[in-house]
Amino acid sequence: MERLNNMPTKKAAKGRKLSPVKIVAEESRYMLKTYRRPPIVFTHGRGCRLYDSQGREYLDFLGGIAVNALGYAHPRIVNVIRREAGRATHVSNLFHNPYQAPLAHKLAQWSGLDRAFFCNSGSEAIEGALKLARAYSHSKPANGSLKKTRILALENSFHGRTMGAVSITWTAKYREPFEPLISDVDFVRFNDVSDLDAKFDETVCAVVIEPIQGEGGIYLVSEEFWQRARTLTIDHDAALIADEIQAGLGRTGRKFAYQRFTSLPDIVTVAKPLGGGLPLGAFIASEKFASVMHPGMHGSTFGGGPLVCAAALEFLTVVEKEDLFANVRARGAELRAGLEKLAAKFDFIREIRGEGLIIGIDLSIDGAPFVTEALRQGLLINCTHEHILRLLPPFIVRTKDTAEFLVKFEKILASGGKAAAKTPSTAVTKAQAEAAAQPFALAAAR
Ligand SMILES: Cc1ncc(COP(=O)(O)O)c(C=O)c1O
Repeated sequence: MERLNNMPTKKAAKGRKLSPVKIVAEESRYMLKTYRRPPIVFTHGRGCRLYDSQGREYLDFLGGIAVNALGYAHPRIVNVIRREAGRATHVSNLFHNPYQAPLAHKLAQWSGLDRAFFCNSGSEAIEGALKLARAYSHSKPANGSLKKTRILALENSFHGRTMGAVSITWTAKYREPFEPLISDVDFVRFNDVSDLDAKFDETVCAVVIEPIQGEGGIYLVSEEFWQRARTLTIDHDAALIADEIQAGLGRTGRKFAYQRFTSLPDIVTVAKPLGGGLPLGAFIASEKFASVMHPGMHGSTFGGGPLVCAAALEFLTVVEKEDLFANVRARGAELRAGLEKLAAKFDFIREIRGEGLIIGIDLSIDGAPFVTEALRQGLLINCTHEHILRLLPPFIVRTKDTAEFLVKFEKILASGGKAAAKTPSTAVTKAQAEAAAQPFALAAAR
């Protein structure tokens, strides 16, 4: 990778002498206690590597939770950000800027849909998608006293932390402290067509589906379930919303995870990698739904500013021009093959799931000790729902990196497994393990 002139070296980072102890103490005094963080301060990165304040190198297979798809300090993203920072970072949505139109055009081409709205995060994209579905429903002539406002989401889903997004998120601990949430939401059992049929009626205005559940533990929605949701929403003039915030924009080796199905959704939400590391979200809709939005109905002060949109255009261009889709598929296949071998060796690995570079390693024991051990060995991974290790490496990952990961990960499984087995409090019981084929049952058991 091309080297940028003022990129901090390991020596320079050390020279800065940031004291992690002081930073951790100040955070703990002045910030809301919403995160449990290890006492490490990251100062810079390059490619798939991150460096901490002590100059230690980490192989990053988490990518800032699916954000840093081009890794750190990608020269083309850095150049665009520098260029635009010297022009105008923000002009507001009261005026045009040069980059929204080409970015919306590209998102329309990628998704097969028509129009985009820009915001600042995934949760905000979800809020916009829900508002659009309700606005579409309200734009239709009333059918007596029938209210067509109900939203169906899936058990085990995750859609974000704002009030609307958390209302359609399944996990109780994310929702219950903030009740009452938005009304008219029901959850359908994952991949259960008969439950979908039972819960769907004329009052539904939207069905929201992550084609691959990310935070939920990397579960793939079946073709049968998707098609049934598509048929019902078409027949009853409701919206099918695909949440592609984690799995979309190339992570599966396709532009969108729903492209493994044969039909399109009406509305798609994106965020995470879109801004090339900067905060940017969007929802993209078919003309039928988009056309109900009029000036003043929805908006955002920051959404789609010139700096973030220029970075996003560059990100999508790099993914396309360098055919990173092919790299995602090839590196994903290498990882899967290596992980399957490890699953044959370590009996606490229950299943490997995913597509491309969104991979879940489902354990029958507690996953947290493996994440801690990985960090100790200079590897960044994550654990979701206590026992599913999650890999979300950058799209630019090379064979050299996947090979290094597999060697390190084997050692981590060998050493961390002992620690994990000793922590039965959160370990998955045999009954839960058996219920794993039904992710909603497992989620309910948590
Ligand atoms: C599928 C999905 N939807 C929505 C969100 C919320 O995105 P954000 O954290 O940017 O608000 C996330 C974040 O992890 C996600 O994975």
